[in-house]
Amino acid sequence: MTRYAKTGVALPEDLLHELDEVLRSLGVTSRSQGIRMAIRNFIALNTWRVSRGVNVAGVILVHYNHEKHDVDEILTDIQHEHLDIIQSALHVHLSKEECLQIIAVKGKVEDIRMLTEKLGGVKGVLNIIPLIIQYLTSNREKARS
Ligand code: NI
Repeated sequence: MTRYAKTGVALPEDLLHELDEVLRSLGVTSRSQGIRMAIRNFIALNTWRVSRGVNVAGVILVHYNHEKHDVDEILTDIQHEHLDIIQSALHVHLSKEECLQIIAVKGKVEDIRMLTEKLGGVKGVLNIIPLIIQYLTSNREKARS
């Protein structure tokens, strides 16, 4: 049986209203249950950041303003430095100024973390969202590496 610990968290009212609205749309009637769901999602989305030596895969969403000088070129150069972990990239023109790069990645967690940090540090990048999962390596793959 799960043991529960109580904790008190101070939240801005706006944030709480937003949470309640999302919970209502999901049909979740208990705020405590909703907060547990949110924490589990947060952990699932970020666990890869603290992992070591594991294989991961996923996508990195890079939202940027392409009118900032050289941003396109810098993002492309960084990707060309990491050909071993980038499987594919998709460019979406969002508006006159904004673009979205969807970069599919697969590799060692440390390499994916480094690529994410490099891309996120480029001037003109508005938001970077890595969606990364860990996967198990088969014995055959382990023998090769
Ligand atoms: Ni574009």
